[in-house]
Amino acid sequence: MKQSLLITALLGILGTLPMTAQATPAEDVQTYRDFFMKRFPGVPLEEFANGVYSIDQVSRDSWEAIEEFPPYEPSIEDGEAMWNKAFANGKSYSSCFPDGPAIMGKYPHWDDGKGMVMTLPLAVNNCRTANGEKPLKYAKGSINKLLSYIGYESRGQVTNVGIPNAAALAAYEDGKQFYFARRGQLNMSCSHCHMQQSGRHLRTDVLSPALGHTTGFPVYRSKWGGQGTLHRRYKGCNKQVRAKPFKPQGEEYRNLEYFMTHMNNGIAINSPSARK
Ligand code: HEC
Repeated sequence: MKQSLLITALLGILGTLPMTAQATPAEDVQTYRDFFMKRFPGVPLEEFANGVYSIDQVSRDSWEAIEEFPPYEPSIEDGEAMWNKAFANGKSYSSCFPDGPAIMGKYPHWDDGKGMVMTLPLAVNNCRTANGEKPLKYAKGSINKLLSYIGYESRGQVTNVGIPNAAALAAYEDGKQFYFARRGQLNMSCSHCHMQQSGRHLRTDVLSPALGHTTGFPVYRSKWGGQGTLHRRYKGCNKQVRAKPFKPQGEEYRNLEYFMTHMNNGIAINSPSARK
């Protein structure tokens, strides 16, 4: 049932492209990439990290002006202070992350011991609770500052998400299924807007290509008047089709992140970033 639904969705969207349930993750990456490179000829792979600004010159101009005085800059400094501040027990984040803050490129990954996809925000909160600190909220608020600092320190690391075993592959397939499944009162999938309709207008927005979607988070968004995590964005996009959003850092969104980040293998991290 699950598989035939997915195949139907994929065939509907991709025509005869081979991104079916049977394709391997490596074949999926190729299909997905080819789809966008063909749809937006002349846009270099690396550019897709800039979302809609990779394909829409009008909004790119105002974005380049914003980037001269980036609205996320204070967050990077605040996040650095958070990173260095001792917990009540005297330890700090570096006790959990001995390699230092430049670690965004290691996430998400399959955690074999826990049997689940481990994301960076979850690892941050695991570190906090292991040291007797309260977990941070996953969508808005100060987690974005810490992630901005970690992201900034990790800029240039190339996305390289592995799928090491069958359990990891099952999580990946689950995320892929989520991406192509219709949902909500509008009965639309992620791929409807960010593949099939990418580059077209939805009200005042130009729909960004899905390729590159994970590399710039957390994002400062003028519409939010602040920063948000990738899972905050997922919630917003679920609500746009009038579907009930899932819990940030719950299994559904973590698996979705695993799939989407794998699709961006080869594209460098450019976190944090700004969007209109
Ligand atoms: C009804 C159309 C629609 C659907 C369906 C939709 N989105 Fe979006 N999404 C948008 C719009 C509009 C934006 C803001 C403009 C842009 O960047 O595309 C956006 C932005 C995003 C961004 C931020 C891109 C960036 O560069 O800042 C991500 C990530 C994203 N969507 C993921 C998803 C995922 C995952 C799904 C499925 C759960 C989804 N979207 C479903 C319309 C949609």
